[in-house]
Amino acid sequence: MIIASADFVASYPNVSACPKDALPEFAFIGRSNVGKSSLLNMLTGRKSLAKVSNTPGKTQLLNFFHINKKWYLVDLPGYGYARLSKVKIKELSGMINGYFIHRTALTFAFVLIDPNIPPTKIDLEFIHLLGQQQVPFALIFTKSDKSGKLTIEKNIAAMMEILSETWEIPPVWFLTSAEKRTGREEVLGFIAKTIKENKH
Ligand code: GTP
Ligand code: MG
Repeated sequence: MIIASADFVASYPNVSACPKDALPEFAFIGRSNVGKSSLLNMLTGRKSLAKVSNTPGKTQLLNFFHINKKWYLVDLPGYGYARLSKVKIKELSGMINGYFIHRTALTFAFVLIDPNIPPTKIDLEFIHLLGQQQVPFALIFTKSDKSGKLTIEKNIAAMMEILSETWEIPPVWFLTSAEKRTGREEVLGFIAKTIKENKH
């Protein structure tokens, strides 16, 4: 997929405020510091994308981008935000969960996971929520250049092993590095294919 345009639409405080035009919609979410902004920059080739999403205030909203005037990319706040108050954490997880529970226009979710560390409880809990809500999702392993191949492979295998206990068909996953610009064609190609399939 060639990214011809990537325009910021708006930031919304909750799911009921989100656009009603039902374009194909792809959401990106992950633990804070997982490398989401870097990945979105890499995928879209637009530095401004993550800049919007990293603007104080907007990091706690549902940020919508219009890609190629055809589909929405939704950048969600990171979870596992240790620096926030308990009240704020509750408010944010309410917004995030509300989006995944009620957003009928959502086509597909990408959960970003750091394969430089063993599987974390917070990621597993979040994936479990998506499963419960029957949200179609894939995993994107980020920062794959940071550790040796063996470490990365071991952590991914551990994650897939845990997920295979719950899922008969484990989720699709992608290996990426924003640093080395790898995995871009795979993720964008998957989005293009999913949009095409959902038309029928
Ligand atoms: P928050 O918005 O602060 O929650 O973080 P984020 O998930 O948007 O992550 P961000 O892209 O800001 O990256 C976090 C840190 O990881 C930064 O220091 C990046 O330079 C680094 N990083 C991101 N992607 C990669 C990558 O592919 N390889 C390496 N080696 N480092 C990366
Ligand atoms: Mg960010």
